[in-house]
Amino acid sequence: MNANIDISGVVLNTARLTLRQFEMSDLEAFYAYASVPGVGEWAGWEPHESIAVSRSVLEMFVADRKTFAITLRGGGLIGSIGIEALRHEIPAALEAYRGRELGYALARTAWGNGYATEAVLAVIDYCFRSAGLDFLTCNHFVENDRSRRVIEKSGFAYVGSIRLRTQSGAARDGRAYIRMNPARFSRIPPLK
Ligand SMILES: CC(C)(COP(=O)(O)OP(=O)(O)OC[C@H]1O[C@@H](n2cnc3c(N)ncnc32)[C@H](O)[C@@H]1OP(=O)(O)O)[C@@H](O)C(=O)NCCC(=O)NCCS
Repeated sequence: MNANIDISGVVLNTARLTLRQFEMSDLEAFYAYASVPGVGEWAGWEPHESIAVSRSVLEMFVADRKTFAITLRGGGLIGSIGIEALRHEIPAALEAYRGRELGYALARTAWGNGYATEAVLAVIDYCFRSAGLDFLTCNHFVENDRSRRVIEKSGFAYVGSIRLRTQSGAARDGRAYIRMNPARFSRIPPLK
């Protein structure tokens, strides 16, 4: 089942990053990377065609209180990481437990520095130790090897193939992963 999440006032610091709530003043920096072709498509959304698109997504981020802005410590916005409602089918064995799905994207210019993994690990720690979740899921399109590596390096276990939906509703082949809260589970409950 979906866990409640409210990141109001939460700030997560890592060695190189600060994760915080989005603010409307992030608009220009958000549009700057979300409008670049070859970023959002890997996560199922189209490049933002105008700053108005970025504004409406940003308004949603601010209102929904489940998406962190990823910023460089003492620097600018480089991406987002959302603790999303479970958007895809989860194994029946997990239905009694409280979970969420992680989704993230980084500015093209920030790729390849380990930032996504650093952000994902910080959010996992927040979800398990502060928000009390039982499990997290994460999925990627089969061809998204960069995200596959982030997920693997973040301690998720592969649980099987999955059909994922893009923002426009198209179905694509994906891979599904789960990570249980280690304070409560020594392993993933049998899924079949
Ligand atoms: C996926 C994404 C967040 C990764 O960000 P990042 O900060 O570059 O990730 P990291 O540096 O932590 O790790 C990337 C890994 O992919 C590897 N990698 C990079 N390019 C690769 C390629 N072409 N093929 C395979 N692996 C690749 C890196 O070597 C690294 O793995 P390693 O540490 O084992 O060497 C970023 O590429 C992105 O924003 N992509 C577009 C949106 C997206 O895909 N979101 C996820 C949707 S599921």
